[in-house]
This record gives sequence, C-alpha cells and structure tokens, in this order.
Amino acid sequence: MNLKRTLGTCYYPEHWDRAIWEDDARRMAEAGLTWVRIGEFAWTRLEPAEGDYHLGWLDDAIAVLGSAGLKVVLGTPTATPPRWIMDKHPDMIALDELGRPRRFGSRRHYCFSHEGYKAECARIVSKLAERYGDNPHIAAWQTDNEYGCHDTTLSYSDAAGTAFQSWLRTRYPGAGNGGDINALNDAWGNVFWSMDYDDFDQIGLPNLTVTEPNPAHSLAFRRFTSDQVVAFNRVQVDIIRRHSDAPITHNYMGRITDFDHFDVGNDLDFASWDSYPLGFLEDRSGFDDAHKKRFARQGDPDFGAFHHDLYRAVGKGRWWVMEQQPGPVNWAPYNPAPLPGMVRLWSWEAFAHGAEAVCYFRWRQAPFAQEQMHAGLLRPDSADAPGMAEAQQVAQELGKAPDVQPVQAPVALMFDYAADYYWAVQPHGDGLSYFGLVFDTYRALRAMGLSVDIVPASTRDFSGYTMILAPGVMHMEDDLKQAFARADATVLVGPRTGARDADMCTPVPMPPAWPDFDATVTYVQSIRPDSPVALPEGGHFIRYLEHIETGETVVEATQDGAPALVQKGRFHYLAGWPDQDAARRILGELATSAGLSVMDLPDGVRCRDTGTERFWFNFDTQSHTVAGRTLAPVSVLRETL
Ligand code: GAL
Repeated sequence: MNLKRTLGTCYYPEHWDRAIWEDDARRMAEAGLTWVRIGEFAWTRLEPAEGDYHLGWLDDAIAVLGSAGLKVVLGTPTATPPRWIMDKHPDMIALDELGRPRRFGSRRHYCFSHEGYKAECARIVSKLAERYGDNPHIAAWQTDNEYGCHDTTLSYSDAAGTAFQSWLRTRYPGAGNGGDINALNDAWGNVFWSMDYDDFDQIGLPNLTVTEPNPAHSLAFRRFTSDQVVAFNRVQVDIIRRHSDAPITHNYMGRITDFDHFDVGNDLDFASWDSYPLGFLEDRSGFDDAHKKRFARQGDPDFGAFHHDLYRAVGKGRWWVMEQQPGPVNWAPYNPAPLPGMVRLWSWEAFAHGAEAVCYFRWRQAPFAQEQMHAGLLRPDSADAPGMAEAQQVAQELGKAPDVQPVQAPVALMFDYAADYYWAVQPHGDGLSYFGLVFDTYRALRAMGLSVDIVPASTRDFSGYTMILAPGVMHMEDDLKQAFARADATVLVGPRTGARDADMCTPVPMPPAWPDFDATVTYVQSIRPDSPVALPEGGHFIRYLEHIETGETVVEATQDGAPALVQKGRFHYLAGWPDQDAARRILGELATSAGLSVMDLPDGVRCRDTGTERFWFNFDTQSHTVAGRTLAPVSVLRETL
C-alpha cells in the first residue's frame, strides 16, 4: 500500500478575530498544507453554560477552512473541561500521589475514572459527532489531547478508588459479581506484613502508605489505570463511529508510558504523536549535560525516531505527527531555537519512518496565556516566523517525492507498556527504567545503521525478521516465549526477562524459565553509576546485573567471571544492562552473524530505509563522510534504493 505524505497545522479559530480566518486559510493552502486540526480546547466556546450550545462559529470555521481546500481534523474538547463542569462535579479532578487536587486553571484537570465527567464528555462528543459526522470537510477526528501529559494518568481520587475495587473484583473473580478476596490475597502475597483483606471494599489505592506498598498492589493499580484510559477513550470513539466514517486518532506524547498505548490504539484508526525534539531533550530524555549541550538545537538523533517507530506500531502501520515543533517552545528547562534546517530535517525524519502527515504546532504564536513564548509558523503579528520557510520548502519537496512505501524492517524491538509498569513499581535502583533500557538498545541498533520495527508484546508472528530483541520484559506469557522459540531469527532477551509473574511475584521455577534453555538467574544487583562492571571484551554493564547459573554456552563473562551473554543456538540471554560500547559490540556481532550488514555511524548521523528510499540525517553542525557520501551539517539526503 502506498501512502501520501502531507503537511498540516494546528489552528485555534476561537483565538482570532473572525475577520482574519479567510486569510489564514488561504495562507495555509498556499504554504502547501493539507490538514488543519481544530477544536481540541474549545469547550467553553462551544458550550459556555450547560446545554447552551454555540456551534455556529465552528460551522463557520470548518466552512472557511474547507472552502480553502483544507481537510479538517476535529478534536474533541475533553482535555479542557470548563469551569462550570467543575462546579457541577467538584470531585471530578484527579488527586496526585500525595492526595493533592490537580486544580482548575490549566488543562487535563480530570480523573479518568469519574463517571459524571465521562458522561459530560459523551454528551459534548455526541453533539459534535451528530453535527459534523457527515460534514465533507471533516476528514479525521482526534479524541481529547495527549492522554497522560502533565502526569495526569495515575489519579488517587475517590472515583478511582471505587472503580479500582470493582476492577479488582473482575480480575480475581468469585461467585456471582463479587470477587474472590482470598485469591487476591494469595496472588499478592498479602500474608507478608499481615496485609490480608477480608473484602474488596477495604482495598485502598497504593499511596500514602508508611513505607512502599505491596508491589502487587501498585502493579494492579497501574494496570487498572491503563484500562481506565482505554475505557475513557472508547466512549468517544464509539460515539464518533456511530455518526462518521472519517478515521479517528489520538495524539500521544513523548516518553509517556503509564498507560498502554497499544490498547488505546486498538480502538483507533491511526496513531499520532506530538514531536518536540528540543523540549524532550531538555525535559525528559535523562541524557547527560554534554549530550544535551551538543544537541540542544537539534534534538537527540534517536529520541524522535524511537517514537516514530513506536507509534507506527501503535497505529498498526498508520501514523502522523500531529504536532511538530516549529521553533522554540515554552515548557522545557531551556528553550533554544532550532538550528536553521532542523524543522525541515524533523519533518523528513518523520516521513522516512513512515508518517503520512506532519502537522506543525501551531499556526500562529499566541499573544496571550501560557504559550506566548511558543513559536508558531506565524508570529503573533501574522508575519512568517522562521519555521514557515522550512515548512514551505518541505511542501515543495514533497511535490516531487514519491508516496510512502512502507517496508518491514530487518530488526524487531519489543516495547511492552506493562513491562514499564513492572520496572517503575520495583526498579531496584536509581535510574533503572524499562524505557531507558529499550531506548539504549534502540540507539545501539540505529548507530549501526539498522532500521527497526517496534513490536508489542502481543506479537506472536515474527516472520520476516532477522533479529528480534526483547530486553526487560519482566513478565512474559508462555505463548510469547513459544513464539520466540518458533521464530526463524536471532533472538536476544534479558536482563529481567520473565522476572515476575502476572501479579508481580517471583516465579518458581526461577527466571527466566525459558523453554529448553538451562539457565537460572540466582540473584540480581543494581549498580552504582560510579561502579560499572567491566566486560573484558569491551564496554560495561551499568545499573543492573544478574547472576546466572547455566549449562548453556557462555559467550562472554564479566571481569569477575560471571556469565554475561549466554547462548543456545539462535537464542541469547544478556545478564545486564549494557552501556553503548557493550551494546554496539554485542548487538553488532549478533547482527553480523545473522547476516545483516552493519555500519558504525557517528553519533549525529542516522539513516532509515523505506521500501524505495534510504534517508540520511546529519544532526551535527559539522559535515560527515559516511560510506563514501558527504553529509552536510544539519542535512537530509534522500537516495533511491
Ligand atoms: C502539546 C500540546 C499542545 C501545546 C504544545 C506546546 O503538549 O498538545 O496543546 O501545549 O504541547 O508545545
């Protein structure tokens, strides 16, 4: 299937004088944009008081934009409940882990579990879907805005507490509608510290305990919370589908792992995400200062790409960038301007990873409220901002470029949101995160010039992959282990593979309990940042180390002689968290022996293949010569394969 590559922007007609809408729409179309997303924060303008709907301006805006030839993505406004809804449902806000209310005055001030708020959402979404379901200009829908952003997934409200008890009853079912409390007590190991419950009604949320709560309790709460996000989203999707055939998406965020995006994505037609490379580098990458300084105006060369590949999987092959940073943002600790050429580079990077659309956030910089220091394609005075010329350049280049021809990558890397909950609940040391481990693995693969498909833990068919990597999946269903065993590929798992059961207890037989593989993790250690464990063949284990007893082949050992990489046939188990030197060496050897050709790319250079093209990206301010070609500073090179 070939897919068109297109551009768009995010527009807030309610922020601007009606007199300039036509001009805005004309300029968007002239800039070569196809899409315009509107509406996602407009609830007070759509319904200023309960039942008092004012949709005329939205009819008008859609008509103006549509008449200019633009396709409209209509967002549901449920990320910004108006003040009157809060007055009606004072208990609809989320409470943080310390029990403090997440107050009105910005956005996302709701708890996913509040049934009253969910009903309000259903009402406004019905209103919009009924009115615009067959509007010819509405070409896609977006539900809400960035679930989980601003740390808004986990809520410790009363609504969440009650819903959690009901959820637990169904997870540990008993006679009738009641659950089996003894089954829960057994599964969680509540005998430890006399934590047994007599009834589900006694179970609170796992916050404000004296010391850490039972990790089984915390894990269950995270699984429950994720299900609440899925259910919240599904209400809107079901309503929209009753009235519209247009595809539905949600705009996910960067490095938000506290709900299962694959589960949400299963209800949607395509995925989208909001890409802020400079904001993410400063705000949530966790990289050291030297790295941040080096890439401060370009963004990390792998962080955006990782999310492109992740959301391609979440969207089952179909995905967009719904918001692309077009200049400085306002929300990170430091907010530099992108180097000239980066807006274009980021746009092409998304297309290289299979995006169907890249939409710039936002059309015009706002001269009021929170985001006054956030660039748009236009300045507040409507003159072009620097990002505009680059967006126009991409639009022109797209006119001459082929459609997307997706292709399966040679390497599959598993990303399992549940594994991220397991690591978050019992990390065993500072700085240990599942996301970090998978990202480090991804970086090593990309540094070798390999294109990567991210795959969910629900994958059972790995055909077509030469190499499959699944580090850190702390709970693995038996049939997933069997699927790995069946795969005709080189497989690497570990560390922490299969380290816990579905309820967060250590399984016996002990991990990894891999079929037909004689190895047992006998104990584990987390490692101080200043005490990495050397691997004599190069690099170190950092952060985390497992001690393995094995009858299989020990491919290499640590300096202390402990098995580091254990092999049986195509299957490999890695007993620690490798630093980049170790990861590139070990994965490079596996890839080469699997028949893949690998490169050794400079840190600022990356490449990616589609079905018909190879893209080269140089994020560096110096040129690089790679495999006979010279890559100019901050540049994109597209070659036909
Ligand atoms: C996103 C959000 C937008 C805007 C943007 C600023 O998280 O969806 O509404 O706030 O960030 O960078």
